Amino acid sequence: MADESNTTCWSFLDFRQFYGAKFNEQKLLENGERGDMPVNNGNSSGIMSNGNNHAKRTRETTIFEQFQSQGQHSSLSNGFSSNHLDERPQKPLLPPFESADMRALGESLCKDIIRGSPDVKWESIKGLENAKRLLKEAVVMPIKYPKYFTGLLSPWKGILLFGPPGTGKTMLAKAVATECKTTFFNISASSVVSKWRGDSEKLVRVLFDLARHHAPSTIFLDEIDAIISQRGEARSEHEASRRLKTELLIQMDGLTKTNELVFVLAATNLPWELDAAMLRRLEKRILVPLPEPEARRAMVEELLPQHDGGEQIPYDFLVEQTDGFSGSDIRLLCKEAAMQPLRRVMSQLEQRQEMVPEEELPTVGPIRTEDIKVALKNTRPSAHLQAPKYEKFNKDYGSQILH
Ligand SMILES: Nc1ncnc2c1ncn2[C@@H]1O[C@H](COP(=O)(O)OP(=O)(O)OP(=O)(O)O)[C@@H](O)[C@H]1O
Ligand SMILES: [Mg+2]
Repeated sequence: MADESNTTCWSFLDFRQFYGAKFNEQKLLENGERGDMPVNNGNSSGIMSNGNNHAKRTRETTIFEQFQSQGQHSSLSNGFSSNHLDERPQKPLLPPFESADMRALGESLCKDIIRGSPDVKWESIKGLENAKRLLKEAVVMPIKYPKYFTGLLSPWKGILLFGPPGTGKTMLAKAVATECKTTFFNISASSVVSKWRGDSEKLVRVLFDLARHHAPSTIFLDEIDAIISQRGEARSEHEASRRLKTELLIQMDGLTKTNELVFVLAATNLPWELDAAMLRRLEKRILVPLPEPEARRAMVEELLPQHDGGEQIPYDFLVEQTDGFSGSDIRLLCKEAAMQPLRRVMSQLEQRQEMVPEEELPTVGPIRTEDIKVALKNTRPSAHLQAPKYEKFNKDYGSQILH
């Protein structure tokens, strides 16, 4: 969720003015100047700017920034100027809301729409072939070929990724944002709860309104257990938090009853803490397990590439020794191994009294087999003890893979 300090300084009056201009423009468009195109998630890797500079190319900015830049045009030119037609997004950023505070919430939420992609490709996620296939089937296919996904075959609206920490759940969601052409709302549950405690059920309503408006869209709720753990269990449960959960359940129910393409993608590493009602709505539940040997090999080969003339890196040994490691444990292990040659250089440098100029710095040598052994001694797997629990949950509730 974006920082409070980043909130736009538009007043309600500005909005009214803008909307007036927008609707005039809409009429013009309907008269044949230009067609209305759906807002899609661009594939370019735009860096989010702070919104103060004008967006030159619409594909590289967040929807919010485009909107803000429109606002600057509109205040300069009294809301409408034909010179800037090309720079406008093709759809108004916000749907009509019933009240000003809902609109303010919507505006704030728009900052969470990822427009420039997070740049995670399917290929950069090693292994997890089944999870990738299920995600493609659930999100990509219904958008591409809507003809087949009607009636009983209507697309899955709720998808849960569950599994041990550090196995690539967030990465998979980012790949969906990068590779699938949907508007992507990245909502971290903890920030929804803390920032919007009082208003959170309104926020959920606005979020779903926005998602429907920009359909096809994906709402990604990371660490969903933080907001939707079993209702009414703890006596001390906050009234506002119960309302938030209930609203989320109602909105998700609404999704299954319409044909609009809005997907809820949720991730958790505590799936057994989810409310039964929530679990029912997350129809497709996909286990993201600890990496298999082939995936571990692909990861170490990418992180520690073999250099010409260097000592042979014992990939087989590494794969064998990393049974039970998660993807992020493997990353840590490789970092530790790659640190060893650097440590040797550091100790050389420490012996010298004077500062060494940059061009005279010694080169860092290749990784040796003993470096890898030291790294293996220093790194422990973090999630393997819980693995059977996830397997059991998968057996009880998970979507089994059909071949
Ligand atoms: N399958 C994988 N392929 C490549 N890298 C991976 C893979 N799984 C994990 N990693 C590495 O581990 C890091 C953490 O992954 P990620 O954030 O997706 O984990 P997560 O499952 O969301 O964890 P958590 O449940 O703790 O949120 C990634 O940045 C990446 O470097
Ligand atoms: Mg995560």
